[in-house]
Amino acid sequence: MSSQSQVSVLHKFKGILFSTMSSEELLHALDSFDVREDDVFLVSYPKSGTHWIAEVIESIPNARISLTSPIELGDVSKLEELKTYSERRVIPTHLSYDLLPVNIKQKQCKIIYIIRNPKDTAVSLFHYYRENPNLPYIETWAAFFELFLQGEVVYGSWFDHVLSWEEHRNDKNILIIFYEEMKKDFSKSLKKITTFLGINVNDSEVNKIAQKTSFSEMKNNSIKENYDLSHTICALTSDRNLVFRKGVVGDWINYFTSKQKSVFDELFTKKMKHSELARLLEEIS
Ligand code: A3P
Repeated sequence: MSSQSQVSVLHKFKGILFSTMSSEELLHALDSFDVREDDVFLVSYPKSGTHWIAEVIESIPNARISLTSPIELGDVSKLEELKTYSERRVIPTHLSYDLLPVNIKQKQCKIIYIIRNPKDTAVSLFHYYRENPNLPYIETWAAFFELFLQGEVVYGSWFDHVLSWEEHRNDKNILIIFYEEMKKDFSKSLKKITTFLGINVNDSEVNKIAQKTSFSEMKNNSIKENYDLSHTICALTSDRNLVFRKGVVGDWINYFTSKQKSVFDELFTKKMKHSELARLLEEIS
């Protein structure tokens, strides 16, 4: 990766790397964002399954919601654009808790935070770096692994991101969803989401949603869709085809050397030793 390409597509805001598709002006202006009490925020570290959950929410009958593009994507005109929605807004973002606009917290808006095993997240993000022209090109997995460990990737350290939610994990306006649990027991996760949003779904609707949001269905549909920027809910691409790669649990095993696994596990233990979220994640994974 040349430092030139790193400079041209990324910039730092409050010590965290962002794509230049998120303007510094917008990031500064986020605290003046006009939050509505019924807004729902869909928050995740990149590559944790955001598009999947978004599709699930959009597929709930009678949800009466509008999925917006990410709050941090674009320039300050984003704040005006978000005012144009009349339905309940579901607003995606990869911001950590600390960087979320303060009025979201003051108004106690509903927030769904998605967590995925960091090893699989790292592998998924590695592929994203390689294929997404909006991110610097990374030569090797080994090079990316080091950047991931140091938090020198878009949206910073996975560990710090998850830890920023730790003390809020039991707040009544926050629902934590684990990618691995969605894979293992889809209806259980869906029920958590619908109960949280105050929407009833029956068993036949659950089955329909499961089918419509399966990996293969979503991947096939992405090939048919237009590449419309407003359709993308990751602030790092407008190409949905980059989102659906494998959609499995445990692909990390094909990338991590045994040395990398032990380095990673050591850091995980050190950083997450007091984390209940990490404990739950390990229990599920
Ligand atoms: P992989 O790269 O491991 O395949 P995000 O939406 O946050 O960018 O996350 C993308 C990751 O979620 C990708 O992981 C993608 O394949 C996976 N994903 C997307 N839709 C999915 C689905 N319906 N079921 C399971 N995984 C899905």
